[in-house]
Amino acid sequence: MVKYIVITGVSTGIGRDALRLLHKKGYHIFGSVRKETDAKKLSETYPERFTPLLFDVQDQNAVTKATKVVFETCDALHALINNAGIAVPGPLQHMPEEDFERQLDINLKAVRRITNLFLPLLGAAPNFKKTPGRIINISSISGLFNSPFNGAYSISKHALESMTDVYRRELRRYGIKVIAIEPGPIKTDIWQKNLNSMDKYTHTDYNDVLQKADMMIEKAETSALPVSRISNLVLKCLTKRNPKTRYIVHKRKLLFKLLAFYLPDKLVDWFIHRTLTRGNQHRPI
Ligand SMILES: NC(=O)c1ccc[n+]([C@@H]2O[C@H](COP(=O)([O-])OP(=O)(O)OC[C@H]3O[C@@H](n4cnc5c(N)ncnc54)[C@H](OP(=O)(O)O)[C@@H]3O)[C@@H](O)[C@H]2O)c1
Repeated sequence: MVKYIVITGVSTGIGRDALRLLHKKGYHIFGSVRKETDAKKLSETYPERFTPLLFDVQDQNAVTKATKVVFETCDALHALINNAGIAVPGPLQHMPEEDFERQLDINLKAVRRITNLFLPLLGAAPNFKKTPGRIINISSISGLFNSPFNGAYSISKHALESMTDVYRRELRRYGIKVIAIEPGPIKTDIWQKNLNSMDKYTHTDYNDVLQKADMMIEKAETSALPVSRISNLVLKCLTKRNPKTRYIVHKRKLLFKLLAFYLPDKLVDWFIHRTLTRGNQHRPI
């Protein structure tokens, strides 16, 4: 019998590749996109076992309307993969309130709204007789480690980590497993979308370090892992009897863990400061 999975944000990147692999494995995918053209293209690529859901995660009316089709098609979901997300870089001091709010709304608040909508199909309902579903939240290593000038994103992913833990503990009574995937740099469009995004802060005192931060984003892209690393892990999270609660995916996982969990804060602060300021003509304030 075919199993049903909802994935948010399947137009590009991690979501798109998860759709590819899970569809190949025989699942029926409900994939969310924002543009009609993406819905059409994907429907042509996957004429069977794929249903596009057209919504922007910030538009709850559109989400509710689009998800009716899921409730009409199946009486249980095998999984919900909360993947749609954006990164809004910039110094916290100068980031406009609407940018900060958009970052939190898309990466965090929308995850709760969408999850709650689908919980009855995942098993959080009286008299649910099917196997409980799983929730996979695509978090980030930024949910474990705070980088300056990527603060709004880090805050959103730290809060998503917290939300993942809370849901996991609350939904245990229903047998719903909740898992966080925490990728480091992965080769997707998210990098291109952010190039030169620091330009609007060039008039601020942070200008000297922001140019370096932008260069570091470019550098991180060159060492990014292929997107299939995440799709393969998603499949493992869905098929393993007892998946872990969280998975870090990073080229230098041990080094990252050392930096994030073991080195003293002040040493890490010094290291980041030195990396951002070395060779700058103007010393930071
Ligand atoms: N790539 C990395 O290095 C990396 C590392 C750690 C974590 N992540 C996380 O992985 C997830 C996927 O990112 P990605 O790298 O695959 O980036 P991506 O290629 O930019 O894909 C993002 C997806 O989210 C969708 N999306 C963005 N805003 C949306 C909104 N308001 N409503 C509905 N859908 C929206 C996009 O749709 P449109 O095409 O319509 O914009 C797209 O399908 C994100 O949560 C990201 O934080 C990525």
